Amino acid sequence: GTTTDGGGCPHSAAEGPQPPLFTWEFASDPYPAYAWLREHAPVHRTRLPSGVEAWLVTRYADARQALADQRLSKNPEHHDEPSHAKGKTGIPGERKAELMTHLLNIDPPDHTRLRRLVSKAFTPRRVAQFAPRVQELTDQLIDRFVAKGEADLIHEFAFPLPIYAICDLLGVPREDQDDFRDWAGMMIRHGGGPRGGVARSVKKMRGYLAELIHRKRLEPGDDLISGLIKASDHGEHLTENEAAAMAFILLFAGFETTVNLIGNGTYQLLRNPGERERLQRSLAAGETGLLETGVEELLRHDGPVELATWRFATEPLTIGGQEIASGDPVLVVLAAADRDPERFADPDTLDLSRRDNQHLGYGHGIHYCLGAPLARLEGQTAIATLLRRLPDLRLAAEPDDLRWRGGLIMRGLRTLPVEFTA
Ligand code: HEM
Repeated sequence: GTTTDGGGCPHSAAEGPQPPLFTWEFASDPYPAYAWLREHAPVHRTRLPSGVEAWLVTRYADARQALADQRLSKNPEHHDEPSHAKGKTGIPGERKAELMTHLLNIDPPDHTRLRRLVSKAFTPRRVAQFAPRVQELTDQLIDRFVAKGEADLIHEFAFPLPIYAICDLLGVPREDQDDFRDWAGMMIRHGGGPRGGVARSVKKMRGYLAELIHRKRLEPGDDLISGLIKASDHGEHLTENEAAAMAFILLFAGFETTVNLIGNGTYQLLRNPGERERLQRSLAAGETGLLETGVEELLRHDGPVELATWRFATEPLTIGGQEIASGDPVLVVLAAADRDPERFADPDTLDLSRRDNQHLGYGHGIHYCLGAPLARLEGQTAIATLLRRLPDLRLAAEPDDLRWRGGLIMRGLRTLPVEFTA
């Protein structure tokens, strides 16, 4: 493998004073700051740009343990300053609304019940059957720009693919999917802000989903929403509100993450020509093994989710020897844990054939990503198809000129300009 992002001596970043967090440079390359934290302050209390104080957990062993610790609640009511967390723990501006009662904001036993019900409808089999459609969508998007010889892979490819895919899977009719794309675009561009366009988009989406669920109850199809309505466990069903919240979290959790997997993943391949050629050769030989381990490695090395979603201590506890008070917010830094040299050999190196790659990019424990099979399908299809159809794909900007979205939870590029032979 080859190195990216500064490379050099793996220990150099951890020396000297603490690099600043949440600045412009941090957004484009947070890894040196995370290396410093892992080394000097592995469980670190900090003030977030929103003003909320939270603990950052950066070592792999601590992160994995915290993700599975039932004393850390997902319910924002456990925050010692719940008013502060308003609009920051989940969907912007929707804290009290019905849509907030979703998997990422609840604990057992409610979580167990809802997760079991959704798992009956959102099965690996349903995802596997969806593979030809994902391939078709991927090809259609490439068809639209292939003759130009240039494209912005975020706007023209990584962004529309997951939204059309999840809409299809849920059963949103094709003629309504562009509305969804626009609402989702508003949310991704202005994510985090509780007011204005985002709130309006969320409201429209909620209204649309409520209506769609109502229609599917009367006229079920073989889509996921009909499956959610039908799913039952010991005679229990999802209520219409629960089904709407579930559809919304599937969209919300499955959208920007997948945009970033395709965006960050392609960017890393373009910056690591040796690894990219290796993958291209293996795909040309009809193999899929390197593609599969490769997409996992792209997730580990520069994954879409920089910090796991919020957790709150329900009682005093210690993480990595650090005492945490009841009510304190805890943020598990997946991006830091996945580069921990205690867990991964040569962690800053991209090695598409890496073995023993138990990364935390999809989380861990009871909230482990429900959409991982779909994300893998989309990530593998998107990357393999790009490399096959645009074999001389290259970056059309200096890496330093690329801008990253400054969101707290997600890590992803705003644009990814590329060139290729038309
Ligand atoms: C949960 C990552 C794609 C649906 C999670 C979590 C992570 C994650 C880290 C756990 C968060 C936490 O514990 O705080 C990713 C990544 C993706 C991806 C990296 C893409 C590469 C998807 C897709 C869907 C999805 C495509 C659905 C269509 C969910 C849901 C949860 C979740 C519903 C909540 C599960 C629960 O609380 O029980 N994801 N995700 N994700 N993800 Fe994903």
